[in-house]
Amino acid sequence: MRRLLRLVALTLAVGITGLVVVIFVLAPGPRPPLAPAGDVGALLAEIDWQPNPPIDDPVERGRQVFIAGGCAACHTAENGEALAGGRPLETPFGTFYGPNITPDAEHGIGGWTEAEFDRALREGIAPDGSLYYPAFPFTSYTGMTDTDVADLWAYLQTVPPSAEPNLEHDLALPYRWRFPIQAWRWLYFEPGGPEISGEQPEAWLRGAYLVEVLGHCGQCHTDRTLLGGLDHDSAFSGTSSGPDGRPVPDITPAGLDGWSLSDITFFLNIGMLPDGNFVGGDMAEVVSENTSQLTTSDRQAMAVYLTMLPTINGQ
Ligand code: HEC
Ligand code: HEC
Repeated sequence: MRRLLRLVALTLAVGITGLVVVIFVLAPGPRPPLAPAGDVGALLAEIDWQPNPPIDDPVERGRQVFIAGGCAACHTAENGEALAGGRPLETPFGTFYGPNITPDAEHGIGGWTEAEFDRALREGIAPDGSLYYPAFPFTSYTGMTDTDVADLWAYLQTVPPSAEPNLEHDLALPYRWRFPIQAWRWLYFEPGGPEISGEQPEAWLRGAYLVEVLGHCGQCHTDRTLLGGLDHDSAFSGTSSGPDGRPVPDITPAGLDGWSLSDITFFLNIGMLPDGNFVGGDMAEVVSENTSQLTTSDRQAMAVYLTMLPTINGQ
């Protein structure tokens, strides 16, 4: 009996060590510091970029954050009430359903404090301390500013409450447990995200914030490791298996070869590619619900940031 136990313990120890080694081999390095890969000044000389005029009303500011954050894409079901949840998100791990985030006290987040909301959004931790799946892109939202979180919270209070109950996620067995998310977080979650500040032109900084943080563009346009972490070494260079298993294109300058700054700005406004075709798939909704509703200043800033991304796939 003793020997059997020892054997079991040994096998477990070897197994766990093996797993840890495999996990660390699979883990990508930390995100290199963000920096423009070219001369932003020369690019800005092409356009007359002006920052957004200040907005006094926190609710209106919050609505802008909400749009730029694309929250409706996952929290409003087709033909469902706004933000009442039930929207299916197909992933290789199973189907997630965006929960109800209206101010309903029972089924939504009506009973939450602002601090709980902040912790969910920027740390991925629920009010009861359980961990959220990274299908909720808190790994991007973690870089949100204090003001944006507060304004977004103010805006969400104004959404009509809905008593729509949440749907259980439909996940394959090991993923049904939430505790392994802790290991995933050690590997892939960088609280606060990459630093977006410093001696860069304001247009580039704004673009970085919109693309990296609020717009969470990398969640679809960056390839993932086997464990579902973003592979920062190939940031924005596309993937053969996007969120719904379909390919997502490279949006670094190698992928957007031949696109001018105004082509990108125009695309983010109406979804038309330089060849005159309209974008489809999930991106059609990103354009209609998110980028088309931003200001021209914000679309230009995003175009500046994309144009200045380092090229990944050669060319
Ligand atoms: C790509 C899809 C996606 C986007 C975009 C998204 N969410 Fe979510 N969100 C989810 C999923 C999925 C969950 C549930 C995660 C879980 O159960 O672990 C979630 C959970 C939440 C929760 C916790 C709700 C609860 O009942 O515990 C809040 C709050 C939330 N999201 C707010 C937002 C806000 C605000 C935005 C926009 C800034 C946003 N989400 C954008 C997918 C998304
Ligand atoms: C939910 C996933 C998703 C998100 C989030 C997303 N994209 Fe996309 N994007 C796609 C897909 C899928 C396509 C290809 C659509 C098609 O096949 O027509 C695409 C296409 C594009 C294209 C056209 C590229 C080309 O060569 O045709 C650009 C530019 C682009 N996205 C930029 C962005 C930016 C900027 C953001 C952040 C605001 C963003 N995307 C967020 C999924 C996404």
